[in-house]
Amino acid sequence: MAPKQNQVFEEIETACRDGALLIAYVSDTHLHQDEPIDPADPDHQDYAANPDPDVVSGRLRMILAELDATVPRPHFLVFGGDMTVRGRRGEWQKFFEIAETSRIPYHLSLGNHDHYEDEDRWHHSREAIRHGLPLLKMCRTPRQALTDVGLYYAAREGPWRLLFVDCPDAITKTLEPVQRRWLISQLTSSHAPTILVIHRPFLKVGNRLDAFTTHDPELLESIRAAGCVRLILSGHMHKARAWLYDDIPHLISSSCYNGMDDEPGYKLICMKDHGVSLTVTRYLKELGEDGPVRYQQDEMVPYSEAALQST
Ligand SMILES: [Fe+2]
Ligand SMILES: [Fe+2]
Repeated sequence: MAPKQNQVFEEIETACRDGALLIAYVSDTHLHQDEPIDPADPDHQDYAANPDPDVVSGRLRMILAELDATVPRPHFLVFGGDMTVRGRRGEWQKFFEIAETSRIPYHLSLGNHDHYEDEDRWHHSREAIRHGLPLLKMCRTPRQALTDVGLYYAAREGPWRLLFVDCPDAITKTLEPVQRRWLISQLTSSHAPTILVIHRPFLKVGNRLDAFTTHDPELLESIRAAGCVRLILSGHMHKARAWLYDDIPHLISSSCYNGMDDEPGYKLICMKDHGVSLTVTRYLKELGEDGPVRYQQDEMVPYSEAALQST
């Protein structure tokens, strides 16, 4: 292990000894099934890039085994959405089979690939998750989180409140109205220190997915005005960034599947004294490539157009 890497883990260990909560954030695994590929399928490129579903699911197995062996072990894990390519039962079955091999409890968020990109997906995902959830031991996502319009819920982890809202629609670029109202009422009804998990970030990263962020300045203002949100966690962009905006950290994770102007990866986050004390990106090579194990501490950068252009 390289000295720098040791230093990262020493800092995580020190923070945890001082009472920090250690979160693993794993997003955009894009698990898929081995089935005929229709070139007209909008997800055709996903399959074409990584046609072997066992290689893709092997990546998730490797990450969870690595997290199980991480010292200190994360207190819980958040799966940040786009866990599947099309929300099919077989894809979810594979996801839950692998997720349940972990010794770390996990929360589930959803992304556009899990349901918002066509009408059938949410039906598929809802049925698959509903049938899966009662059997799951490590999953902390409540069954009532599954509503007709998506998955959203609040949870507690120690002093922290976690709010999960799934993926804003690509056309309206904001949440379903019922989810949006629920989120605002949560933010105004309690001032408990809060981590908000939303698949599509509010801020850009500097790649072609910038056209598909959440665009809702009023909601962002409500979040700022509430004064209780200490972290906003997102995925979707397949590129990692650590922004500070209105004094709130917006952490955007890489994908575990492939990078877009970035390497794939996942995040380890220490929460302490009502704020983020340390965040680390675990960089992975592209699927099928070997490379050294690499962890890098994230530097929080104030969000601006100039900062966005700089990398
Ligand atoms: Fe994705
Ligand atoms: Fe996405």
